[in-house]
Amino acid sequence: MTQHQATLFERSITLPDVDARMRLERLIGVDDKVKRLANMLGVLINPSGLQKWLADHHAGAGHLLDAVLRRPPLVILSGDVGSGKTELAETIGDLVARQEKIEITLLPLSLSSRGQGRVGEMTQLVSSAFEQAHAEAAKMKSTKGAARGGVILLVDEADALAQSRETEQMHHEDRAGVNAFIRGIDRIASARVPAAVLMCTNRLSALDPAVRRRAADILQFSRPTTEQRLDVFKRWLGDAGFKASELTALSEATGERGKSGYGFTFSDLTQRLLPAIVLDAYPDGPIKGTRALEIARAMAPTPPFKDG
Ligand SMILES: Nc1ncnc2c1ncn2[C@@H]1O[C@H](COP(=O)(O)OP(=O)(O)O)[C@@H](O)[C@H]1O
Ligand SMILES: [Mg+2]
Repeated sequence: MTQHQATLFERSITLPDVDARMRLERLIGVDDKVKRLANMLGVLINPSGLQKWLADHHAGAGHLLDAVLRRPPLVILSGDVGSGKTELAETIGDLVARQEKIEITLLPLSLSSRGQGRVGEMTQLVSSAFEQAHAEAAKMKSTKGAARGGVILLVDEADALAQSRETEQMHHEDRAGVNAFIRGIDRIASARVPAAVLMCTNRLSALDPAVRRRAADILQFSRPTTEQRLDVFKRWLGDAGFKASELTALSEATGERGKSGYGFTFSDLTQRLLPAIVLDAYPDGPIKGTRALEIARAMAPTPPFKDG
């Protein structure tokens, strides 16, 4: 990793990695997404695995390979805040790396706090990110057989970039950012280097149609169901002396309320409610189920991100 790269991508990591694996395993209610995403990234980064599978099981159907591989290496993760998009995007590479038995470099770029300064900064940022992802992946491309490694470029908080080009008030510069993104995707696709791009956004509807059209897959994330909230409480409070009935009561108390029609997000549960419950009890004595329930009832869920 060059010095330049280290500054562009703040937390680039090499996978597999134990920490990533544990974070991935902690995610609740995403099993189908994990499988879909791992397989998609696996074949995009390392098509030889799919080639072998086809030869083994559908030897006469080579055209199926093209159907899968002739897609731009882009997957969009979209949906409500605090629903696990970033968490999944940052950790899925661990599973892909282990599944494909290759090393994967994750290059995470968050657009939330960046590229909003000088004119041209966003475009420059996106262009360099793709440039470096391409260069890194080109080193791992192999002329025959399995790739020696792969690259996942994560463009997080992409709302800043990928607004619809049709939006009236959109500044000319923003279009340049979107165009740089599209150029980057197309270049990686045509070069057939072992790289894939994950884009996370809270606002699918604001995404440029040209970006959306390129996505090989779009995964939709939403707030936890009652059962999933119960899973969260079991996972975190199951060992803390809670009765089953108390955990159920908590999962019900954090569901849809009155006319608001929305309940707690995953991050409301893990990053707001659970710490509040713990810190309320500390240091005087143990956490009590009835008190935890009171705290849950007094807390308001984060309003949904307006999409549109
Ligand atoms: N499916 C989930 N299962 C368990 N915890 C989750 C899940 N989704 C989100 N969280 C919790 O919320 C935090 C924020 O999630 P994040 O992935 O950053 O959300 P976003 O969708 O906004 O990118 C995570 O670190 C985790 O603690
Ligand atoms: Mg996020």
